[in-house]
Amino acid sequence: MAHEFTDVSALEILDSRGKPTVQVSVALADGSTGTAGVPSGASTGTREAVELRDGDTSRYAGAGVLIAVGNVNGEIADLLKGRSWNTLAEVDEALIALDGTPNKGRLGANAILGVSIATTRAMAASEGKPVYLWLPGFGQARRMPVPCFNVLNGGAHAPNPLDFQEFMISPLGAPSMAEAIRAGAEVYAALRKRLSAGGHNTGLGDEGGFAPNLAEPEEVLTEIVAAITDAGYTPGRDGVAIALDPAASEFHQDGSYSVNGQTLSSADMIARYTAMIDAFPIWSIEDGLGEADREGWKQLTEALGDRIQLVGDDNFCTNPAIIAKAIEDGIANSALIKVNQIGSITETLEAMRICHDAGYTQMVSHRSGETADTFIADLVVATGAGQIKTGAPARGERVSKYNRLLEIAAANPDLPYGLA
Ligand code: PGA
Ligand code: ZN
Repeated sequence: MAHEFTDVSALEILDSRGKPTVQVSVALADGSTGTAGVPSGASTGTREAVELRDGDTSRYAGAGVLIAVGNVNGEIADLLKGRSWNTLAEVDEALIALDGTPNKGRLGANAILGVSIATTRAMAASEGKPVYLWLPGFGQARRMPVPCFNVLNGGAHAPNPLDFQEFMISPLGAPSMAEAIRAGAEVYAALRKRLSAGGHNTGLGDEGGFAPNLAEPEEVLTEIVAAITDAGYTPGRDGVAIALDPAASEFHQDGSYSVNGQTLSSADMIARYTAMIDAFPIWSIEDGLGEADREGWKQLTEALGDRIQLVGDDNFCTNPAIIAKAIEDGIANSALIKVNQIGSITETLEAMRICHDAGYTQMVSHRSGETADTFIADLVVATGAGQIKTGAPARGERVSKYNRLLEIAAANPDLPYGLA
């Protein structure tokens, strides 16, 4: 079906941290429209597509995105309005070619991704379909995902002494999307109560999880397991299990890891994780080791790959070529999927397909800097990935995604819930 763009425009808006980001709106000749808000990370992989920032220190300390906005309003609008387009892939490929760099550094991945998402929405609308029904799959049937709620924040997302970045709860045993969301919110409330009773502050980190002054990961895990029980759920795969994202690149330096003042080798870290999964109901660990520690990653995968999910984030960057190489090398068994790490929806789907074909699971993810945009909720349902992390069950930019999942589930009671 041929589509003609009548409008392609962008605006500088704010993300959830008060930093500028790009919003893109497009309109097609048949009146269909699409808008997108672009997310932004804080603990980023070194090989992520380039988020173009102005560098003009007189505005937003250099973080403005007026150049990226100008690229959408100028070159990109000219390209898209200049001809008609049959598919999203055609549009994405033309944007990549127009940019001309391997990492979208000229036009900005923030500019390109905004256009890619807005175009997806407009093309879906043009065919009268919601995005979760319109996006092409790759062999995984649509399903409702397990939500992984980040209930306790550390690392680059909170000013506390905790080195591990994310402690998530995953209601793997919930009977439905709605019951999974309820479990997340009830455990979150129970955790607030426990922390408060224990004399800890209950201020929030960037992703809406609590950010108490705790430094030992095991201490946090103990509190979370207790909160799961307090809320009336069973800790573990039959009820509510725990997923970690230590984001270890952030505390990996000169070949060793620094956890609460201790200096640990890769082997020490693997031993620590092994003890943790023996003692706590942990089913998934993302970025357990740093992106530069390829040997360590291989050993981690050998040691724990058949017991739990090992998710590559900083080391994979949602990049099809990087993921294909890691699969060859036997690194991890799962990939985090962040649309702005690669910068287009077509490439995101390709990264997911490569994972699927190799038996690697995919966890769709938000960024620590978000807007109210709910695109990833539709993406995870469309692709049947079966798992999503999009922060705590609190704060508007996080709950917007969970609420979108509730809407999709209500409209499609036959879609199964749970891991793929
Ligand atoms: P980021 O964190 O969005 O700040 O990169 C999320 C993650 O590490 O998974
Ligand atoms: Zn991560």
